[in-house]
Amino acid sequence: MADGSGPDPIADLRANTDAPFERARAMPRSVYTTDTFLAAELDHIFGRDWYCVGRADALSQAGDYVTGTLAGEPFIVLRGRDGALAAMSNVCRHRMSTLLEGRGNTRAIVCPYHAWTYNLDGTLRGAPAMEQNDAFCKSDYALPKIRCEEWLGWVFVTLDPDATPVAQQLAQVEAMVSGYDMTNYTETFYEEHVWDTNWKVLAENLWRATTCRSATRAPSAACRGSKTWSARRDCPRSTITRSSRTTGCASRWPIPTTIG
Ligand code: FES
Repeated sequence: MADGSGPDPIADLRANTDAPFERARAMPRSVYTTDTFLAAELDHIFGRDWYCVGRADALSQAGDYVTGTLAGEPFIVLRGRDGALAAMSNVCRHRMSTLLEGRGNTRAIVCPYHAWTYNLDGTLRGAPAMEQNDAFCKSDYALPKIRCEEWLGWVFVTLDPDATPVAQQLAQVEAMVSGYDMTNYTETFYEEHVWDTNWKVLAENLWRATTCRSATRAPSAACRGSKTWSARRDCPRSTITRSSRTTGCASRWPIPTTIG
């Protein structure tokens, strides 16, 4: 029992991985179905590691942006007027509306709720009616920055300010792929798929060699089968595909209180 009231998925997993390789079994059900394990994943994996959000060349012009959600935190990656890529919170500092959706190009970040307007560097440009409040200081309301790095043309973000730099983490990989000239890859095609399942089920199906061999001709058809994805019914939520599209979403950054 993790808290005395339910299964302890961490203990379940530890017991599972303690078994010798010759007696290896699939991961325990609780790692797919409990809120306890989901919270641990968000904290220890999605809240700390680097995640690739695409190719830098797809964000080539000032104002080009892509949005996403990492560990429940909506973010924007955007090409600034100085030519540099930057990542920042995608939550309005007024009443927490999501600012941008999907991918595109913008001259400024304008909140769809009450039209607070941010510059491409995340600083607050204008806030209607707030000039009537003497205590209001625009510099207090810039969008919080998120770490963003480029590696061989791939763009990565992390919520962990202390994460080891991407190039350092992937130094061995860089040596392995050195013959592919990845830095000069150009994005010619983009699709986004949202899978209504636990993220681990998707990952397991993609990297398992036997799946590749038997389902190469139609992997997506294999995955759509109700039996293949029956774990979906037991999954409390999908970890990697949720996004906050409305007002009132939570943010890790406290917002100053001098707002109207
Ligand atoms: S201006 Fe963004 S929530 Fe009000």
